[in-house]
Amino acid sequence: MSDLLVRAARGERTERPPVWLMRQAGRHLPEYRELRVEYDFLEAVTTPEVATEITLLPWERYRPDGLVMFSDILTILEPLGFSYHIESGKGPVIADPVSDPADIPDTYEDVETALDYVGELLDRLDSRVGEETGLIGFAGGPFTLASYAIAGHPTRNHYPARQFKARNPEAFRDLLETFAEAVREFLAYQIEHGADVVQLFDTYAGVLPPADYREFIQPLHREILADIDAPTIVFVRNMGGRLGQLAATGADVVSLDWTVEMADAREQLDDRAVQGNLDPSVLFADPETIRERTRDVIEGAGPHGHVLNLGHGVHKDTPVEGVEAFIETAKSIER
Ligand code: CP3
Repeated sequence: MSDLLVRAARGERTERPPVWLMRQAGRHLPEYRELRVEYDFLEAVTTPEVATEITLLPWERYRPDGLVMFSDILTILEPLGFSYHIESGKGPVIADPVSDPADIPDTYEDVETALDYVGELLDRLDSRVGEETGLIGFAGGPFTLASYAIAGHPTRNHYPARQFKARNPEAFRDLLETFAEAVREFLAYQIEHGADVVQLFDTYAGVLPPADYREFIQPLHREILADIDAPTIVFVRNMGGRLGQLAATGADVVSLDWTVEMADAREQLDDRAVQGNLDPSVLFADPETIRERTRDVIEGAGPHGHVLNLGHGVHKDTPVEGVEAFIETAKSIER
């Protein structure tokens, strides 16, 4: 197995950048919206036949170099004893969030048993796509999971989690550690089932002051990623100017949001491979503009260790033509 995605993630020079999009199997696809009439989101996620079909939708349409399994970062809440559902217009809602230190789980159910539908999904995908396509597994990072477990719903600036930390720093640390341990097991399990690359989505951890990130989160990111037997990607938004903190997690690839200039990121990160980072809103422009802006990102990154992606997930109203122009640009590069 030596697909483009894996080679770039290892930092190698590639003849063109591999390309995939965060949230590529979501609501911007008309065929996804059709399937969602029939299946509730969590029903789709927990039914391997359905999740396989959804994961393959963008592959059939665009042939990206990476296929990210159709799932959600919050599935791991279940073995930790939290149940949740997605409310349309509101997002995820957790039934029994943490409100005081006594609510913090100190054990969790066996991840491989509780999340066996993820292993089955990856097995199915592995037998459906060829070696040239990389299978991408993922898990949420401890802060992003804790933000939901504490607030119980999406929040602006993650104030409930930050307040909880201020009041109960030791309990906050315990909660993060329990999440980190479960996540580490979950990623190893995904690799056993055929994931070629895994991404840690601690998307919200960048709202913490740098000293808190360093003290509470970075050591856990390091622990999670340390023994993973495949290339790893770390994604945290709002880390511009302190990308070195992300490199210090030991991830093979640092995924950049769109607020960072690609060439600056390269300087801050030395030889570390990078992923990203076109502004997702550029995909609403005309195809020529999309191609130009995408080529700017590719040129800023250079030929070594670059996985082309957006700076965050594809927006649900994005025209498919915009995604096509983005993917075709990556595929048209020869070097
Ligand atoms: O990149 C991928 O496609 C991988 C799968 C994935 C999804 N969500 C699929 C999904 C990943 C990695 C996520 C990340 C995620 N999910 C995060 C991390 C933060 C981030 O955005 O990077 C968080 C906090 C969640 C929890 C969650 N699940 C949210 C906030 C939502 C959106 C709710 C809404 O109403 O918009 C979901 C649902 C969800 N997860 C959808 C998809 C494709 C949309 C489901 C639908 O309505 O059909």
